[in-house]
Amino acid sequence: MTNREKFGSRATVIMAMAGSAIGLGNIWRFPFIVGEYGGAAFILVYILCCFLLSMPILLSESIIGRRTHQGTFGAMNTLAPGTAWKWLGLLTVISPLIILSYYSVVGGWSFAYLTKALSLQFKPENAESVIGMFATFSSTTWAPLACTAAFLVLTSVIVYLGVNKGIEKFSKISIPVLFVLIVVIAVYSITLPGAGEGVRYLVKPDFSKLTPGAYAAALGQSFFSLSLGVGTMLTYASYVRKDENILASASGTAFFDLLFAILAGFAVMPAVFAAGIAPSSGPGLVFETLPFIFSKMGAGGQVISAAVSILFFLTILVAALSSSISMMEVGVAYLVEEKKLSRHKATFLLFLVSLVIGVLCCLSFGSLSGIKLFGQTIFNFCDRLCSNFLMTIGALLFSVFVGWKMDKKAVRDELTNGGSLKGPGKVFPALYFLIKYVTPVTIIAIFLIGILA
Ligand code: PHE
Repeated sequence: MTNREKFGSRATVIMAMAGSAIGLGNIWRFPFIVGEYGGAAFILVYILCCFLLSMPILLSESIIGRRTHQGTFGAMNTLAPGTAWKWLGLLTVISPLIILSYYSVVGGWSFAYLTKALSLQFKPENAESVIGMFATFSSTTWAPLACTAAFLVLTSVIVYLGVNKGIEKFSKISIPVLFVLIVVIAVYSITLPGAGEGVRYLVKPDFSKLTPGAYAAALGQSFFSLSLGVGTMLTYASYVRKDENILASASGTAFFDLLFAILAGFAVMPAVFAAGIAPSSGPGLVFETLPFIFSKMGAGGQVISAAVSILFFLTILVAALSSSISMMEVGVAYLVEEKKLSRHKATFLLFLVSLVIGVLCCLSFGSLSGIKLFGQTIFNFCDRLCSNFLMTIGALLFSVFVGWKMDKKAVRDELTNGGSLKGPGKVFPALYFLIKYVTPVTIIAIFLIGILA
């Protein structure tokens, strides 16, 4: 294990982990879920979920990963040899691969929309047809397939380059760039005429809109956004050096992820209100509503609106890539460490598997839309399976593992680097209490409420 790659510094750990966390979940999913569940009140619940539930799980995964310096399967086998916990290791090798497959379809759309923005298709004279463009595009066969494949190729190339030369380098550049881009877009959006109502929607809570389902949605969104329960953070933490403060890197990651989601809310919602569109228009919000807004606004300043639409889809694409590489890395770590495959072969194999599932997910918007699994299209089935079940179960089990199965002293040692870090030492009792009791009990309660509601 000694020649295993490690992230260079605290900053690179945070950039890589934030790279995994910041993605379509923040820019595509967060705004439309906030729109569906009523705005500011939902955001408050979401923030609570991040601190009370997601942070302890991020810490649990960090503890397991850094303790063993192994991927999910190896880590479980080392810490609990010969027990059923190895199945959690295996589950979390498979689930990120399923996510990668359908995520690549959306990544492919962002690729396609970037090319549409670059070829200046979002023009005032096209405004009305832009809304229908998404349904038409996603239901055709070859273009979305080619984009899905292109996105997977890009992902594979970065993963193939390795932890230091690929993942670390990409995240170090992409995360600062993403923050600059999203701030520019948010400023543009907030200054549009009529945007004020959208800003109010994001900051003035209306608690009457909080249905029981909103809590489950906030929980699911916060797990998805922080890449929890599927072993990605565990795998990244396995590349963290022994002298790193994992409480600091986890807090930094969670902070940047939350900040980015809120900025994305401010980039999307004010523009949606400015164009007089319902905030609850669902998953199409980013690929239908925004291009429509960009093209309509074009009348006022075509150059600016074309530039903003290019920047917007570039932001989505880069953010999606920095997440998809983390999904693929979980499987690569497994194949390299447990099956002794070379990194090249492992990456190629996972590329092929995710391409096959990705093709099925992609076609489920068009020629395969008639195929239903438990009443859902293939894409929706994969999304629901992962974000509603596998992530929650994985997250729950990681916290149970650290709280109940691991030796308490080992947990404290990992968080405090053998007692040498004073800050984490002071908050350890509170964190341990959260991991052991509060987090698992609340996850089970919210999960049940979500099912019964
Ligand atoms: N966190 C990523 C996002 O917000 C998605 C993701 C899920 C990444 C699971 C890795 C693992 O888009």
